Amino acid sequence: MAQILLRGRTLSFLRWPEDTNDHAAYRYEEDGGLLIDGGKMVAAGSYADVAAAAAEGAKRIDHRPHLILPGFIDAHVHYPQMGVIASYGAELLDWLNTYTFPEETKFRDAQHGRRIARLFLDEVIRQGTTTVSAYCTVHKQSVEAFFAESHERNMLNIAGKVMMDRNAPEGLRDTPESGYDDTKALIAEWHGKGRQLYAVTPRFAITSSPEQMEMAGALMREFPDLHLQTHLAENRAEIAFTQELYPWSRDYTDVYEHYGLLGPRALFGHCIHLSEREADALSDSGSVAVFCPTSNLFLGSGLFDYQRYRRREKPLRIATATDVGGGTNYSMLRTMDEGYKVIALNGEKLNPLASFWQLTRGNAEALSIVDKAGTLGVGTDADVVVLNSRGTPAMKLRMETVDTLAEELFLLQTLGDDRAVAEVYVAGKEAKSALEASVP
Ligand code: GUN
Ligand code: ZN
Repeated sequence: MAQILLRGRTLSFLRWPEDTNDHAAYRYEEDGGLLIDGGKMVAAGSYADVAAAAAEGAKRIDHRPHLILPGFIDAHVHYPQMGVIASYGAELLDWLNTYTFPEETKFRDAQHGRRIARLFLDEVIRQGTTTVSAYCTVHKQSVEAFFAESHERNMLNIAGKVMMDRNAPEGLRDTPESGYDDTKALIAEWHGKGRQLYAVTPRFAITSSPEQMEMAGALMREFPDLHLQTHLAENRAEIAFTQELYPWSRDYTDVYEHYGLLGPRALFGHCIHLSEREADALSDSGSVAVFCPTSNLFLGSGLFDYQRYRRREKPLRIATATDVGGGTNYSMLRTMDEGYKVIALNGEKLNPLASFWQLTRGNAEALSIVDKAGTLGVGTDADVVVLNSRGTPAMKLRMETVDTLAEELFLLQTLGDDRAVAEVYVAGKEAKSALEASVP
């Protein structure tokens, strides 16, 4: 494969940006270059320096005046819920029973799973997202469909079979044994195959019996380098029901704690209604709280207190995510715009540099994949998004009065969507333009 040399305004974060003047937190090159070889970044810096290192036959692609960033990361999404997004009028438990569970039963059909996995990965790429942590359904074949489609595109994705053995309809339940066996078979087949990573995925405490929670804990002890993903403290009725199902527990977090499911690779979706004890337990174990603003607003679940969690004495590791189909948009730009508003309702602001840190490096750190994704660092995989800050007429007009990089990023976040995504590279291959070229 020939080298690829990209030219544009490169931006990559080194650490959390304290404020809009924290220029030491990132590396920005006005005339930047990025050299890609064999799907990896092999040089990054000023265009002059990088071009000097490129081979004679390198394919040169000039993206000026666009920004070149690491691809966005979505830390929690349900790919089988493409047919659920935009379902009217319910809070979490009714929404699950009325819309989500019936839709997920369709994934017993492998063909259906493959079709939706294809459309889902097409859609996230169109939006500039190059890595997701995805829930599949209870059906083993839904995971096979997802990983097959992801592997074919050479994407770095995390996914897992949802384990659920109670409080769900016929056709959407496994058993503690079959959930364990299917998960183990999927790990053997897919974890570490190409860029695929497996996440043990007990849906949440309500849909798993104590026996199944034991099995999830056993899997994590057997495979400690795996991710774990589940839901926690999203909705008041959910919390009350969990307390009834696990009457011995001190609180919701204690249920997962009891079965050994907390830890640095554990991703807890939502975490809106946490006591201080629960937040301490998450922090002490290095667990990750996943902020899903569009979903939390749409389902009326509550306001995640991002700044309080970040600043508390025992801070939480935080990731951000769409949570489609509870979430209402596939775009991480739209997601951070809503996140900004949720944080504003808590009386705080999230500076735009921090926002783009979160979408890239922050989410990569939270998913423990920063050695592979989330920066333009040499040696990492070449997953890249090219952003056009003049992607719509209204953005173009607003750009007339933008002076700083932070202002430009805030404009991208506030007005941007897929129209601001000029190109996406997955492991060094043009992915968005390839999709558009294949549309009949
Ligand atoms: N809790 C358990 N399952 C789900 C789901 O599919 N979506 C959301 N938002 N919360 C959940
Ligand atoms: Zn979810």
